[in-house]
Amino acid sequence: MAKAKTAFVCNECGSDYAKWQGQCSDCGTWNTLVEFKLGPAKSAKRSTASVSANYAGVRSEAKRLQDIDLEQLPRFTTGATEFDRVLGGGLVPGSTILVGGHPGAGKSTLLLQTMCHLAKTRAALYVTGEESPQQIAMRAHRLELPVDQLQLMAETNIDALLDAAQELKPSVMVVDSIQVMHSDEITSAAGSVSQVRECAARLTRYAKQTNTVLFLVGHVTKDGTLAGPKVLEHMIDCSILLEGDADKRFRTLRGQKNRFGAVNELGVFAMTDKGMREVKNPSAIFLDRGHDAAPGSVVMAVWEGTRPLLVEIQALVDDSSLSNPRRVAVGLEQNRLAMLLAVLHRHGGLQVGDQDVFANVVGGVKVLETSVDLALLAAIVSSFKNLVLPQDWVVFGEVGLAGEIRPVPSGQERLAEAAKHGFKHAIVPKANMPKQPISGLTVVGVTKLSEALSALQM
Ligand code: TYD
Ligand code: MG
Repeated sequence: MAKAKTAFVCNECGSDYAKWQGQCSDCGTWNTLVEFKLGPAKSAKRSTASVSANYAGVRSEAKRLQDIDLEQLPRFTTGATEFDRVLGGGLVPGSTILVGGHPGAGKSTLLLQTMCHLAKTRAALYVTGEESPQQIAMRAHRLELPVDQLQLMAETNIDALLDAAQELKPSVMVVDSIQVMHSDEITSAAGSVSQVRECAARLTRYAKQTNTVLFLVGHVTKDGTLAGPKVLEHMIDCSILLEGDADKRFRTLRGQKNRFGAVNELGVFAMTDKGMREVKNPSAIFLDRGHDAAPGSVVMAVWEGTRPLLVEIQALVDDSSLSNPRRVAVGLEQNRLAMLLAVLHRHGGLQVGDQDVFANVVGGVKVLETSVDLALLAAIVSSFKNLVLPQDWVVFGEVGLAGEIRPVPSGQERLAEAAKHGFKHAIVPKANMPKQPISGLTVVGVTKLSEALSALQM
């Protein structure tokens, strides 16, 4: 019989070593290497061959790209358009989707709703390792979900789970969560990198071989990355993150990696007493300005994946009592804020060196696009000078270090979204001026920061 091999795997970053050592040379943490038993050498070798070859017992053949049958990947819908959008248009058989998020984000709720819906037309299995079947059933009844078809199983042992799956042959399966699954072949505790890696590898192999759609729920560490296993990211096809605090109403679902569609797609949901509800027109909620216009508030249009979204950027500039005044950015990049303040000083002639500057995106959205630059500067100047920008104005554009205003992608669509929501006046990069006038919207194109500030009447 072939001898089982061992490797040592870092529990923090997942790098592996042939020998034990005190410190992981990759991530520099101490005492995180644990022993990891690889299967017998023979099967380890086979697993490097292609997945489909393993399955059918025949070698796969090379084909020309144009001869590959696209019909083999019919997508099917999750039943929620916001969810489908993030997945790139629906579920692809044989794919593995990692759903990450903080505790209380609503991962279990969203997947339970989706699975109850899917179970109406196809075999679906929900494996829970965290909650009891009673808890899940109670939740399903309370949310008035169709409960008659979904198969539910409480299991944390990967062998038992796969056995049951072979029997039930689900076409969609949820494993909630991958961190509590364990394999008897590995000595370390559930949740450790070696366990997660082994369980995820076996589950994804099963999904590929049987064309099952597999959802893996994954926990997220405090800094928002998926707990422990960086290794997981290579095995899965899509990784989506459910963001939003347990005490807030809105949740955003964001694609981080997607082999079948665009990344950074954003889906918006609201957590209600009847579970997760889709928000079909997110601009309307993020813009819900019940209050009168105030200094420091500017509306911009961001481009999220394949659609525009209107969000409000707020800034507060106030005298600082500190020798190092604070620069705080929430939902924005901290470094960009510092850079823009330098540009504002140099090219806008405005000195805020002795002021605390706080910037925030309303509604808990994260804006990582450069198109936020001009809107952020406008908000800062508006707060500093205590001037109010009219409520029906919208601003976007990238600001360069030389004080130039650079164009951003999809200007036309952003302007159309603004017009749809009743905005009357837009200040945008000159290169983003629409070719045809947009009815109801006056668009002003600017090329320099000084021009932009005078267009803003600041
Ligand atoms: P859950 O799906 O258990 O989160 P996760 O699996 O990501 O840890 O969601 C739990 C949270 O959602 C909890 O804070 C309560 C809230 N919630 C509602 O507000 N309404 C509901 O109908 C449900 C089921 C949960
Ligand atoms: Mg849960």
